[in-house]
Amino acid sequence: MMNPSQMTPQDRAKWAAAKAALSYVKDGQTLGLGTGSTADMFIQQLAEHVREKEMNITCVATSGRSAQLAKSLGLAVAEFGQVEKIMLTVDGTDLVDAKKRLIKGYGGACTREKIVEYASEKLLIIADDSKKAAGLSGAVPVEFLPFAKTRVEKGLKKLGARKIELKMNAEGRPFMTDNGFWILNADFGRIANPLKLEEGINDIEGVLENGIFAKRGADIVIFGYANGKVVKK
Ligand code: 5RP
Repeated sequence: MMNPSQMTPQDRAKWAAAKAALSYVKDGQTLGLGTGSTADMFIQQLAEHVREKEMNITCVATSGRSAQLAKSLGLAVAEFGQVEKIMLTVDGTDLVDAKKRLIKGYGGACTREKIVEYASEKLLIIADDSKKAAGLSGAVPVEFLPFAKTRVEKGLKKLGARKIELKMNAEGRPFMTDNGFWILNADFGRIANPLKLEEGINDIEGVLENGIFAKRGADIVIFGYANGKVVKK
C-alpha cells in the first residue's frame, strides 16, 4: 500500500491527480477502475472516500490486479457482464496528446481497459505531467494470440513499425495477459494518424487489441504535479 510520506516526486504527482478524481465520483455510480500505479492510487483513495462518505458504489475492474486491490480494500466489485452501464471510468495512461488521445497498456491491460473505457459514459484520465505530449509517438502495446506471432510482426512492419519487442515478465518469459495472450511493443515513431493506426493494427489477423485510444480519447484529463497542484483539461 502506498504511504504518501515515502513517495517520489512522480508518485506525489500521480497521487494528486488521483485525489482530484474523487470529486467526480457520485453516490450510486457504477465505476470502471483502470490498471497501473496511478490507478492503484485512485483505488486506494476511492476506498477511503466511499467509506467516509458512506457511498454506494459498484466497481468494474480492467484487470485481475485492480479487482483484487479493490476487493481487499472493501470496494464492491462486479463482473463487466453483470452491469447495465458504467457512468465513469478512472484510469492512468502512458501518453496523452493535445486532443486527449492516448497510448495505454504498458502495464499489460490494454484490451480490458479499452472494452471498459469505450463502454463508459465518461473517461477520466489521471496522470503525472510526464505523460503529456503534443502528439502520440513511441511504443504501442499490441495484444495478440501467440500462435500468430510471426504474422502479427509482419503486419506491424507493413504498417510502419520500426522496432518490435516482445514484452517479457520478471522471470524472463513472455508476459501473459489476463486473457492468456502475449504483447508486442511496436514502435512507430511519430504517429501521424492515430485513428487509422488503431484500426489498422486491429485488422491484422491474430491481434486482439492495441493500446491506441483514438476512436475514443479521454473526456477529462487531470495532470498532477509533485507540489500537489492539478490541472484539468
Ligand atoms: C496499464 C495502463 C496504465 O494505465 C499505464 O501503463 C500507466 O501506468 P502508470 O499509472 O503505472 O504510470 O495502461 O495497462
